[in-house]
Amino acid sequence: MSASLDVRDLRKQFAIGRPAVDGVSFHVPAGEIVVLLGPSGCGKTTTLRCIAGLEHPTAGRVSIGGRVVSAPAEGVHVPPRSRNIGMVFQSYAVWPHMTVKQNVAYPLRHRRVPRAEIERKTAEVLELVGLAQYTDRSVVSLSGGQMQRVALARSLVYQPQLLLLDEPLSNLDAQLRLRLRDDLRRIIKQTGVTAVYVTHDQAEAVVLGDRIGVMRDGKLLQMSSADEIYNRPADLFVAKFTGASNLLAGRVLARNGEFGIVDAGGQRLTALMPATVEAGEGVKIAVRPENIRIGNDATTGADNRFTARVAALRYQGTQTVYELAALGGRLEALELGTRARHAIGSDVDVLLPPALCWAYPAREEAALD
Ligand SMILES: Nc1ncnc2c1ncn2[C@@H]1O[C@H](COP(=O)(O)OP(=O)(O)O)[C@@H](O)[C@H]1O
Ligand SMILES: [Mg+2]
Repeated sequence: MSASLDVRDLRKQFAIGRPAVDGVSFHVPAGEIVVLLGPSGCGKTTTLRCIAGLEHPTAGRVSIGGRVVSAPAEGVHVPPRSRNIGMVFQSYAVWPHMTVKQNVAYPLRHRRVPRAEIERKTAEVLELVGLAQYTDRSVVSLSGGQMQRVALARSLVYQPQLLLLDEPLSNLDAQLRLRLRDDLRRIIKQTGVTAVYVTHDQAEAVVLGDRIGVMRDGKLLQMSSADEIYNRPADLFVAKFTGASNLLAGRVLARNGEFGIVDAGGQRLTALMPATVEAGEGVKIAVRPENIRIGNDATTGADNRFTARVAALRYQGTQTVYELAALGGRLEALELGTRARHAIGSDVDVLLPPALCWAYPAREEAALD
């Protein structure tokens, strides 16, 4: 049976440096896949290792299926082997001297499961991960992607209540990575196991996760659906990390509900902003290049329309990136299609849809690098 996971105020302080995990809380209902996404060193692996029991948290509480498994304040630390967890790591942790089947059957033999049941469960899980025809092969004859499928099968075969995956695709070459990425979600969902998946790759996070948690410096900044992360990023870091590469400096002239009017390089822009941002405050507006409409596409909408000159362009075959001279700086806009429709030096209509312009206090930018 898959179980819920609850992480409360989790902290991990190693002997040196700032806390690797610094007050992380989240809940994963049974059967959900949560992805922890963030740059290298932000504390993803440490969080996962605390959930697994491989790391002793400094403070906080981890519960699996309602059972407290780590709570240093109460002296609780259930060892990893008693947590009924499956784990898949970046390195292919397979036993090279065994066949595919022997690798996958190992956890069941270790648990003294009857032979007939081992046969049945091993065959089932190998079918599930797409290795049915490789059963008796030596694992060393397999590709990296197939070895990772063996590792996955081995961690699923005993039906753990929770599956933890730490960047399982990062050692694979690009093509295998895409194939296994798309397969992984289907496989995990088919078993119904609750999963926490760690990655620094946004695309993986979006494809795999029911929800995504963005981490930075040991903190969980936002945990929500991909749709919300991409359309309502909670802060400037989340916006930038997920690809909102245009940052426009401005000052708030007036508030209007969840929107506000900003003076950006002499142009008035309407943008979404947190309730705490006040008139007079300096802000940075984050805009994704693919959310900017140019040319004929810029004709709808009343707010946030202006004309800009094409200063440069990068034609990329199936899309073109335009550098527009606008708002006292440069604005990058992306246009899909195999033809660059606007020439360098021409003036184009530009529309920044207000709901896709997100203003944050300018001071957040200073904390980014
Ligand atoms: N065993 C350890 N001892 C000391 N510092 C560690 C240890 N493991 C991780 N760290 C530090 O904790 C921080 C978070 O690391 P980690 O959880 O591995 O990040 P991520 O998986 O997001 O790349 C980093 O600054 C890292 O150097
Ligand atoms: Mg890591």
